[in-house]
Amino acid sequence: MPEMAAGAVTVRPARTVAGRVAVPGDKSISHRYALLAALADGVSTIEGYSPGADCAATLGCLRDLGVRFRHTGGASLEIDGRGLAGLQPPGRILDAGNSGTTMRLLAGIAAAHPFRSVLDGDASLARRPMRRVIDPLTRMGATIEARDGRPPLTILGASLQGIDYKPEIPSAQVKSALLLAGLQGNGRTSVEEASRTRDHTERALEAFGVIVARSGGSIAIEGGQRLLGRALAVPGDISSAAYWMVLAAATPGSDLEIDGVGLNPTRMAIVDLLRRAGATIETRVDRIQDGEPVGRIRVSGADPRGFGIEAHEVPAVIDEIPALAAFGALLPHGQVVQVEGAGELRVKESDRIACLARGLRAMGASVEEYPDGFQLTARPLHSATVDSYGDHRLAMAFAIAATGASGPVTIAGAAAVAVSYPAFFEDLGRLALSGDRR
Ligand code: S3P
Repeated sequence: MPEMAAGAVTVRPARTVAGRVAVPGDKSISHRYALLAALADGVSTIEGYSPGADCAATLGCLRDLGVRFRHTGGASLEIDGRGLAGLQPPGRILDAGNSGTTMRLLAGIAAAHPFRSVLDGDASLARRPMRRVIDPLTRMGATIEARDGRPPLTILGASLQGIDYKPEIPSAQVKSALLLAGLQGNGRTSVEEASRTRDHTERALEAFGVIVARSGGSIAIEGGQRLLGRALAVPGDISSAAYWMVLAAATPGSDLEIDGVGLNPTRMAIVDLLRRAGATIETRVDRIQDGEPVGRIRVSGADPRGFGIEAHEVPAVIDEIPALAAFGALLPHGQVVQVEGAGELRVKESDRIACLARGLRAMGASVEEYPDGFQLTARPLHSATVDSYGDHRLAMAFAIAATGASGPVTIAGAAAVAVSYPAFFEDLGRLALSGDRR
């Protein structure tokens, strides 16, 4: 197990990676199940709920909106639905913590409740752009105040009117906020996507008995449909699995199996990219669970090489780019990874372009930064101290890159992994077999 001290973790070189791992419950799906269970009639049970702080923030906000739930052991919980428009005025500021998904999806729900809610979060969330939900929700009838388009959001909910909307930037969070608002509004709401984004909200709504019309890039919902409480189980998070996938793919001789992981087609671009980069990856869907395909991924590393990601591919792989940058850093020296059209990375939990570049350069990689991407050239990696900048995906990406360094790498702020994958470093210690890989 990597050494931990005062929130910092030191990762030592690893020779290879082998074994089986089950990753924590999918963060995106967990948020949606909790939110929809709160709007449903009757009780829902959720198994495999994400243990991360982001999904705990969603539950905390729901509690403050009058929703009762109980943890029933392990990662299971039971939520008493309050029915459509059944939430209660919160007695305090709703704290979304570090979670953009909590804030944006909850904004869509709060917009339809006729009371004042204030949504705030930590210093990272306070910097993130919210106009993308404020503008359409205002058009639907809500009144929303923000600080220069950023949190805190003060939402005065109203009886909403459905709209047809085409977000400027493809975003599953914006789409979801509008579908949740539309569900509680009058008439029909449709969202037109220029590029397909993760469709967990659509699948979850259907699991709760709601009719969602999908055709081409358009998703539409009629307001007023009731949701029926139900038993749900969350698959493992493929964005967490991505760290193990890149580690195995970059390490010749490795053989790794990830079980019980979500294999939703809108999240599978990471698999295609790693195949393009030389990895052998088998996927097998074992079951469809609440509308989501779930199964197994097996990765072995053979002949890893560089690759490029173009603008149109970015939305499908946006959360995996830190992991892919770590993959790039582990490639044979001189290999190149190029990412374009990914300006959205600058407004995630950190400025992921600048912070990735800083951390990977400190370890020895050569990284050229662009306004909307970067070019990374693999060079010998060495001991360094890097900072996660409080971003869970950067802490994990730096840890993966560190396995290929010639000496120990200390990651300050490594505790940020708790946002999505609290046991990340325990799993790293188990899967990465120590020794010099060169
Ligand atoms: C998410 C959507 C994506 C993603 C985020 C989770 C979701 O954000 O980056 O981690 O659960 O809908 P955008 O909608 O801003 O692209």
